[in-house]
Amino acid sequence: MKLLQPLELAPGLVLPNRMVMAPLTRNRASQGDVPNELMAEYYRQRASFGLIISEATPVNRAGHGYPSTPGIYTSQQIEGWKAVTDAVHEAGGRIFAQLWHCGRISHPAYQPDGRQPPSASPIAARGADIWKPDWTKVENLIKPRELSSDEIDFTINDFRLATRAARDAGFDGVEIHGANGYLINQFLTNGSNKRSDEYGGSIPNRARFLFELLDAVTTEWPERVGLRLSPSGSFNDIEDSNRDKLFHYVIEKLNEYDLTYLHIVEPRMFEDQDMAIYGEPLSTKTWRSVFKGTLISSGSHSKDSGNVLLNHAQADLIAYGRLAISNPDLPHRFELDAPLTDYNRETFYGGGAEGYTDYPTLAQSDASPAPEPEAEAEPLMEAQAAAPAPASGDSPSEAKQDELPEIPPEGTAEEGEAQPPS
Ligand SMILES: Cc1cc2nc3c(=O)[nH]c(=O)nc-3n(C[C@H](O)[C@H](O)[C@H](O)COP(=O)(O)O)c2cc1C
Repeated sequence: MKLLQPLELAPGLVLPNRMVMAPLTRNRASQGDVPNELMAEYYRQRASFGLIISEATPVNRAGHGYPSTPGIYTSQQIEGWKAVTDAVHEAGGRIFAQLWHCGRISHPAYQPDGRQPPSASPIAARGADIWKPDWTKVENLIKPRELSSDEIDFTINDFRLATRAARDAGFDGVEIHGANGYLINQFLTNGSNKRSDEYGGSIPNRARFLFELLDAVTTEWPERVGLRLSPSGSFNDIEDSNRDKLFHYVIEKLNEYDLTYLHIVEPRMFEDQDMAIYGEPLSTKTWRSVFKGTLISSGSHSKDSGNVLLNHAQADLIAYGRLAISNPDLPHRFELDAPLTDYNRETFYGGGAEGYTDYPTLAQSDASPAPEPEAEAEPLMEAQAAAPAPASGDSPSEAKQDELPEIPPEGTAEEGEAQPPS
């Protein structure tokens, strides 16, 4: 099975299998947004994935937008992360830090000076879910303020410093979070970027922030920088008048950078057009021919949909999100074709060990078969990225692993994916 075959991701970094634990915000950091022992245990349990990508991790205080998300810009946070990376390494694993800035998906309560959150332009996101640090729900996001060009430089520098901090904290690399409607995505798309300076207007101008940032972080840590993009995503009120042209430009230009990988979030598809039926995610297929490096595909993958993609060389690695939450030993379960444990969405965000470190391994669990993951849409912070899990009977597991099933036309994914999270 190709999923369980090794891959050399970077010089000196060999993954024993092609299964990646997707970045998953779990809101369990301690006071001061410091990673803690419970988090170390959670990541340690998942060390058998070829690669773990950490939950999104703000690069500075202004970058926060959700409660109890761990940062990587204070010495306590870096110490906390050291315990996490040590735990993963001791268990034989590898871990990248996902570096994040929420931009306008935030609230003054998170901002160092209580000001409006920063973004590319003063345009509020409609329909995005936001909570204050005490978990009070915010009904309407306030209008962000436009980052000045000095602040853009400072923010890029904070990504660079966070990259250095990640290396100091023992991570094996970093993933820049350019997906799902956060700051980098807000600069890229012209629904959220109306600037009249060199960071707005034309596609190269809107992409300038991303590429200056990549220049900084790849110089800081050559060969250990990945990037996550969601070319089809509309989560957090992201829109663009010509998405295909924008992402074609961006992804083609990424070939000039020595990226460790490009991580694509597949579109959320609609009911009967879900990729679980058609077996083949759309966006990875599209971008595979443009990007020349290592490609990770994420979104509603099963064992068989992952293998189909790998067997057809349409991706090099497959990321699993919700299945990694409830199956710490997912690679072992796939190897044995063992039943999977269902996840409990009530415990995704916040809380303690329940629904976090108490999902059993196969060895620990009862031999009785567990139900398939749920199929309905989810009230998630990153629900756009979390395509519905395969409904029983719709799974491509019935498809042969070397067979690429029919896919729906490109347009249908966009149409179906534009469902705001409830
Ligand atoms: C609880 C939860 C938290 C998530 N947090 C993040 C995150 O921090 N960063 C990110 O890029 N995506 C995040 N996502 C999206 C996942 O990485 C992944 O793309 C998505 O769940 C789809 O994959 P799946 O169908 O295998 O779950 C999150 C998804 C879930 C369910």
